[in-house]
Parts: sequence; structure tokens; C-alpha cells
Amino acid sequence: MTKHEFGGPWTQLKLDVFRDYVRFFTTALKNKNFNLHYADAFAGTGNQNLKTEEGQPVLFPEEDFEGSVRVALSLNESFQVYHFNDISEEFCQQLHRLSGEYPGVDVRITQLDANDFVREFCAGLGSNDRAVLLLDPYNTELDWESLKVVASSQRIDLWLLFPLSTLLRMTPRDGNRIRPEWEATLNRLLGTDRWITELYKPKEAPQIEDMFGAEPESEVERLNVDGVSKFVKNRLSEQFPFVSDPVTLRNNNSPLFLFFLAVSNPSNVAIGLARKVSGQIIKKYSTR
Ligand SMILES: C[S@@+](CC[C@H](N)C(=O)[O-])C[C@H]1O[C@@H](n2cnc3c(N)ncnc32)[C@H](O)[C@@H]1O
Repeated sequence: MTKHEFGGPWTQLKLDVFRDYVRFFTTALKNKNFNLHYADAFAGTGNQNLKTEEGQPVLFPEEDFEGSVRVALSLNESFQVYHFNDISEEFCQQLHRLSGEYPGVDVRITQLDANDFVREFCAGLGSNDRAVLLLDPYNTELDWESLKVVASSQRIDLWLLFPLSTLLRMTPRDGNRIRPEWEATLNRLLGTDRWITELYKPKEAPQIEDMFGAEPESEVERLNVDGVSKFVKNRLSEQFPFVSDPVTLRNNNSPLFLFFLAVSNPSNVAIGLARKVSGQIIKKYSTR
């Protein structure tokens, strides 16, 4: 079997949050006469083997954990259609083998770039369809434009894993150290170049001794982690009628990813329910 090594304890937290939400979603909508779709644009293999990092003992190195695909397929109340996409041919083959374990379940597997998959998936949804979409890239693979397509569908609840640590690395604290070759990636990831003015603010007046320092200091510095997280949430809120507070996934206390629920359905009922349920789930896992 193909091993898919990625993540760590933070991945388990992501999947626990995700599992609680899809359980709620399929239970709440089971008698509502909608066609329920589950879409996983970065599907992986269905399993996860925790990555062994140098110097970091892994508790269960050989153990297979459920990936998002298995979580979605193992629900008591099921979705009507499962859409699994991954760019890796090997992982798609593994997904085909896995779908064989669920005879009679409508599983559709594609091997596309996730941004193309999102466009195709959203274009295929009709007025009676409702969906949960998981977008959990490794890094900066997802374009902001794809999120706009999801938001305009008005029928998708999105769980988005945003690569916070990469954003922090690409926006160094000292504004002089921004590398011009990263700007296009940041613009694509965030859908704007406003990060230059919104993430960087004028420094407090320099200390007297700094004025005689050899290095010319930048006049701007990047916001702290909380400020950057708020900026990402505000960007999402410009597109989606409801965005939850993020669950921050950490490794040894360093923030790695932000995990958000973003609801595209503008109805007050959908938003009220999403706010309540995501609040409960986030609170449940807030101490991990
Ligand atoms: C973090 S893993 C996904 C984990 C999976 N959702 C789970 O919980 O088991 C990211 C996946 O994205 C796939 N991938 C990387 N770049 C991609 C792209 N541009 N389009 C689609 N899939 C991509 C990788 O092959 C990998 O399986």
C-alpha cells in the first residue's frame, strides 16, 4: 500500500475538528431533500502515516491513521456523492483501491490540479445540491481565485487549511527583507497586494542607539502572529458571508496552519447554525 507521510499531531487535531463538522452537517441535512456532496481537492490516499522528523520521536511510526477521505466515508449518515481529487497518480490509484472497499457508494476520483478541480466541482453543482469541501494543501498550492469561486457557489461549507507559517516566513518582520521574487506567490495566495500595506506598519520611533547602527533599518515591520491571522480572516470575510475563528494548528507551540470554516450560503439560518456549531467545536478543541 502507498504510504502517505505528512503532518504530525496537528493533523490529528485538524481531522478531529473536521470529523465533528461533517457529522453535524450530514445529520442536520439528512431529511432536508438536498443532494449532499463531499469534495476533497487535496485528498491524499485516505490514510496518513505520521512523518518522522529528525530529532522528533514519533509515537506510532508504523501506524496508519485515517485521512480525511476515510473520515468522510465512515460517517453514520453519509453524503450522496464523494469527489476525491489529488494531483498524484499514485495517490489516485490508492483512492481507486480504497473506493472498492465501499461498494454501492458514489465515489468520483479525479487527478487534477486542485484549482482546476474546484472550478469543475463548483460548476457542476445545481440548485438542490449542498456540499462540504475540504481544502488542505501542504503549502501555497491554492490560489485565492479558487476561494472566490467557492464563495460565489452559495452552496458550499468550506474547511480551509491556510499555511500560516509559510506566510510568516515569506513576510519577514523587517520590511526591508521582503524578497521581490516572493511577491507574486503572496499575491496569488492572498488575492491582493494589499498585504504590503496591511501586514506592515510603521515602526515605533527608533531608539537613540539604533540611530548610530551600521545597518540602515526598515521603517516598517510586520504585524505579530495574531495580527497576521486576523488579516487572513478579514480577507476571507470579504468573500464569504460567515468565517469562523481559526483553529491554530501548532507544532511544539509554533503556529503552522490556520483551519477555518467559511460558509458560502448567505441565508441567515445557514450562517446562524454554522456560527453556533463551529463555535462549539472550536471550544471543544481549544485546549489541544
Ligand atoms: C496535506 S495532504 C492532504 C491530506 C488529506 N486531505 C488527508 O487528510 O488525508 C496534501 C495532498 O495534496 C496533494 N497535492 C499537492 N499539490 C496538489 C495540487 N496542486 N493539486 C491537487 N493535489 C495536490 C498531495 O499529493 C497530497 O496528497
